[in-house]
Amino acid sequence: MSFSGNVVLVTGAASGIGRETAKHFAKHGAALAIVDKDELNLAETECRDKGAIDVLQIRADFRNQPQVESVVDKVVAKYNRLDILINNAAEWRLGHLQTSSVEDFDLLFTVNVKAMFILTQKAIPHLVASKGNIVNVSSLAGLYPLDGILLYSMTKAAVDQFTKLVAREYAPKGVRVNCVHPSFTRTNITRYLLACNYRRLKYMMGWVSNELHVLFRSTRAGFSYVDYLVNWLYVRFTSTTTLEQLFRRNYLVFRSMIRVKLHRLTLTELIVNIDLASTGLLGEDLEKFQESMVDAHPIGRLGTTEEISKAILFLASDDSSWTTGSNLVVDGGRALTMK
Ligand SMILES: NC(=O)c1ccc[n+]([C@@H]2O[C@H](COP(=O)([O-])OP(=O)(O)OC[C@H]3O[C@@H](n4cnc5c(N)ncnc54)[C@H](O)[C@@H]3O)[C@@H](O)[C@H]2O)c1
Repeated sequence: MSFSGNVVLVTGAASGIGRETAKHFAKHGAALAIVDKDELNLAETECRDKGAIDVLQIRADFRNQPQVESVVDKVVAKYNRLDILINNAAEWRLGHLQTSSVEDFDLLFTVNVKAMFILTQKAIPHLVASKGNIVNVSSLAGLYPLDGILLYSMTKAAVDQFTKLVAREYAPKGVRVNCVHPSFTRTNITRYLLACNYRRLKYMMGWVSNELHVLFRSTRAGFSYVDYLVNWLYVRFTSTTTLEQLFRRNYLVFRSMIRVKLHRLTLTELIVNIDLASTGLLGEDLEKFQESMVDAHPIGRLGTTEEISKAILFLASDDSSWTTGSNLVVDGGRALTMK
């Protein structure tokens, strides 16, 4: 596989899958344009170490439309061409219908969908000229209704449909468009998700055990929070015996108290009331916690950024020259166990 002479634009390249992907393209002879809202020096150094022909850093926050709009112009101003676009940057949030905010809706659709749309619109004339291609990074959440990530899943479903429609429109003009669907891969997103859940759980358990009575009489806690806790606990932690025991011991108390006091507390309000920083999950604990996610994957482990990157490179390469509009699931077999 060679990307020699190709100019590759990778978004969300400061960390995780994006950074790894940029490195892999560098290793195979590409010139890179790496984009992120965060610091990109480390990513640039890694790409150069891997042999990148050249690397252009572009700091752009995808919440800011003019910044998104300027990205492709900057790439073309430097390299005078564009061959491959990797739409990878994304935000995510936990939440069900009643526990997802309009602010998060705007954020996720702006970063995950609108920015991808703008970048693709700007990039497409250059990709037509180079007979290039696009790989969008979706998620298993775009294909299956994974519980508790409503907005994120909606954005990823939009990414999938966008992929297919643009693939169909531009196939006759020689541009292929595909997407990959990772499951749990060790990156900042999963660290954040797991740490965030764990902190909430720790807090909730302390709350249930010690302060439930007082809280339910004096605050507006209610069903949305309980639904969230129940779903989330059973979906995420059925394999974590200690947590289950804790939950079961307290759940009856919890439910009876809810029947007594029925007001609402949204998840957002709940989070605001929690001092996340004081209940952090670090080092070994975090590792153990990530391992608890392994059971959902028949291959018996979480994915690595390298494995996702290799799938991305395959779709971007001539090795997949007759593939367009496809969903490549890279998930350790997790989809096979989806109920
Ligand atoms: N890690 C997983 O388990 C997993 C699973 C399925 C799909 N994905 C997808 O993989 C892609 C990469 O995620 P990751 O896991 O490497 O996470 P990550 O957090 O390591 O990387 C995401 C990158 O996107 C950038 N980004 C976020 N908001 C931005 C904004 N407003 N403007 C510009 N850049 C922004 C971040 O700074 C970060 O560098 C995402 O599309 C994600 O949805 C990840």
